[in-house]
Amino acid sequence: MLWIKAVHVMFMVTWFAGLFYLPRLFVYHADCHDEAGNARFKVMERKLYAIMTMGAVVTIVFGLWLWLAYWWPSTAGWLMTKLVLMVLLIAYHLYCGHLVKVFRDDANRRSHVFYRWFNEFPALILIAVVILAIVKPF
Ligand code: HEM
Repeated sequence: MLWIKAVHVMFMVTWFAGLFYLPRLFVYHADCHDEAGNARFKVMERKLYAIMTMGAVVTIVFGLWLWLAYWWPSTAGWLMTKLVLMVLLIAYHLYCGHLVKVFRDDANRRSHVFYRWFNEFPALILIAVVILAIVKPF
């Protein structure tokens, strides 16, 4: 079980590296007005989204493995709350994928200020989920 948990946490770090950096790229891209910079951001966003999606898939597969192999059929409060937050985080991840396409098609109409606030969401989820997973407060 500890090896499964170790892989779970390692890929969670990979996933969050992308969840923190990709919206930051959106902040700079929304404020970019030169063609060379625009093209460079598109490549960086596409590649980063692919890497963070790999991190997400392995985190979720090993998380479900931990749940189904060692915690099923527990309905412990920390785990149920964590799963609800996971649905929100996966929705955020998929929306980032949509935004990568919006920027690819030069269709972004939002300002860098919007993306600065958008960038804060993963940090709140990380704080809540790590406390739930390690402290298990309820
Ligand atoms: C669908 C997604 C996920 C599921 C089903 C899941 C499920 C689990 C389960 C069942 C454990 C074992 C708990 C234990 O034995 O103590 C665990 C551990 C852990 N999870 Fe997740 N998890 C998911 C995503 C995440 C994410 C996104 C994070 C980070 C933000 C995370 C952070 C952790 C940490 C830090 C531990 C180790 C807890 C400890 O050893 O005390 N998990 N997860």
